[in-house]
Amino acid sequence: MKILVASKIDPTALDHLRSRHDVVVAIGAERSELEERMADREALVFRSGVAIDEALLERAGNLRLIVRAGSGLDNLDVRSVEARGISIRRIPGPGARAVAELTFAHFLGLARQVLVADRLLREGHWAKNDLAGWNLGGKTLGIVGLGSIGSTVARLGAAWDMQVVGCVEHPSRDRSAAFEAAGIRLLDLDEVLSESDFVSIHVPLNADTRGMIGAKQLALMRPGSFLVNIARGGIVDEAALLAALRDGERPAAAALDVHVSEGEGRISPLAGLPNVILTPHIGATTVDAQREIGVEVVRIVDEAADLADGSATSAEAQTTAVGA
Ligand code: MLT
Repeated sequence: MKILVASKIDPTALDHLRSRHDVVVAIGAERSELEERMADREALVFRSGVAIDEALLERAGNLRLIVRAGSGLDNLDVRSVEARGISIRRIPGPGARAVAELTFAHFLGLARQVLVADRLLREGHWAKNDLAGWNLGGKTLGIVGLGSIGSTVARLGAAWDMQVVGCVEHPSRDRSAAFEAAGIRLLDLDEVLSESDFVSIHVPLNADTRGMIGAKQLALMRPGSFLVNIARGGIVDEAALLAALRDGERPAAAALDVHVSEGEGRISPLAGLPNVILTPHIGATTVDAQREIGVEVVRIVDEAADLADGSATSAEAQTTAVGA
């Protein structure tokens, strides 16, 4: 199969693909190069950071399989892909644990001012008396979006002795009872924001969620609370967050793994603030998660190639039978 790998994937998976298929790797490629390289490809493997839109798909007349080596579909024009009869395969499972664990790295980083302490110490300041932090245990954890990642964050929060509350897009009495049984109190978004000490966002980016945490929502947060967005840039309004963090009360500090503008050379508008932790969309980037995702990528591509080989073989057999 002719494959374009447009994002970094597990090296062992890439070796496997190369051993059986015709693989072109174009990680971080300029748009024009990507368009050129898509021309004869039958399969595309990608992650976040690459926009797979109508214009690009138009250049890919042979494309029949798209493998999203992860979860989010916000950088893929799904309607165009479906209209072209191209099959989409996502691999959302393995990244959930990694994303949930980075959420806690950020909670702890914020609550204990880990990066501030590190910077001060490197500058020769022994700031022991200025760096009183907060425990996670006993605090309320608010989760916006209780899908697979949000639910994993909830489980980890319970293990840290946090009280867990959360909200979902389509609440119902049944769902509320099911969450209650899992130790999660289901509330609406405003209640989650106003009752939580630590708020974490885990919804996909779409027309409904873009800007869902703006000035009005931030003003509902508890004084001294912490906000983590590890879902997608654009869900939290960056200008509103900048203004709120300058105030430094609601929330007191925030950590963002995702940004409105991502990529080499881009600097977040929040980069000048001391009460922010910024990471470059590394939620699902653990060796463990990427290894598991890589195994799935290889399985999906091989299966598609086998199917194509099988139908080619049976078509050949039919032709021979007719001709014989
Ligand atoms: C995902 O949606 O799976 C994550 O954002 C990871 C990624 O694609 O880089």
